[in-house]
Amino acid sequence: MWYNVVKKNLWKVSGILLMNNDFNNNEDYEYDPEALEKVRQAKLRREKADQLARDRMHAKVTLFAAAFIIVLIAFGVTAKLKNNSDNSDGYSDVSSGGEASSALDYQSDSQSESESDSVAESENESVSDDSGDYAGQAQGHTLETIDGITYVDGILIVNKTFTLPSDYDPGLDAETEAAFNEMAAAAWEDGITLWIASGYRSYERQEELFAGYASERGLEGADLVSARPGHSEHQSGLCVDVNDPSSNFNGTAEALWLDEHCAEYGFIIRFPEGKEDITGYKYEPWHIRYVGTQVAQEIMSAGICLEEYLGVTSDYADSPDNDKVFCLFKRW
Ligand code: DAL
Ligand code: ZN
Repeated sequence: MWYNVVKKNLWKVSGILLMNNDFNNNEDYEYDPEALEKVRQAKLRREKADQLARDRMHAKVTLFAAAFIIVLIAFGVTAKLKNNSDNSDGYSDVSSGGEASSALDYQSDSQSESESDSVAESENESVSDDSGDYAGQAQGHTLETIDGITYVDGILIVNKTFTLPSDYDPGLDAETEAAFNEMAAAAWEDGITLWIASGYRSYERQEELFAGYASERGLEGADLVSARPGHSEHQSGLCVDVNDPSSNFNGTAEALWLDEHCAEYGFIIRFPEGKEDITGYKYEPWHIRYVGTQVAQEIMSAGICLEEYLGVTSDYADSPDNDKVFCLFKRW
């Protein structure tokens, strides 16, 4: 009898203290159902407390992760804004290498900057922040990218460094065509016949042409005479090839007349002799680019090329699209 009382109470106390024991399986002992119930209750309370602690820990981890992501996003936005303000400061992050740094030190004046600004504003177009993607730009010039088209000091530039969007499809520029017709009429008076052999060319047409050159000459050879798609001035609608776009044109009366008079009508010889290392192309006396009479006369009388005038490079290595375009043709 006394043994049973002692056994029951001992069991009750140890059950409450240990709580973890599985009493249901402990068939060797007799025990007090009341004590068992209390132990079960205590066990339930502890499980609930454990669950609550786990839930709290999960909530803390989730909150911490969310806060971390928000901080990362905030850093990204701040860096982007900082980049925008750096780039809007015209070529402030210019590379010190490349031909452009040794280019003539033309300073953009406040008038041309405000003209460029008003063009962007009047057309309700935003000036993009991607100008920093191009290397080899000189100090003192204003570079803007509007709808993927790059303007330096308000002049559209497309060369090995600067691309046009593949869907840019303006056709031959009306002002360029009118200037050419006026020039051809004047040449006619001098006994010189000029005609447009090739004017505007689409991205796709340039792709075909370049692929043809690449299959004939290999990539390196093609790069000397033809622009990769997206890099041709012909896609801008602002240039024309006159008469015979081949070396047969070099030194002809038409070529000499063009070289002497084209600037009077707003054109420049775009790839002049002796500037191959800067333009990236062999001499093309037939390829003329319309830039307006003032700029054309400045460039032609100084004996420089457009890259020197604008302080930019013409180099696929400086172009952010280089890898994308190059991989199309690397089989050659
Ligand atoms: N021949 C010039 C470089 C062009 O393909 O645009
Ligand atoms: Zn051409």
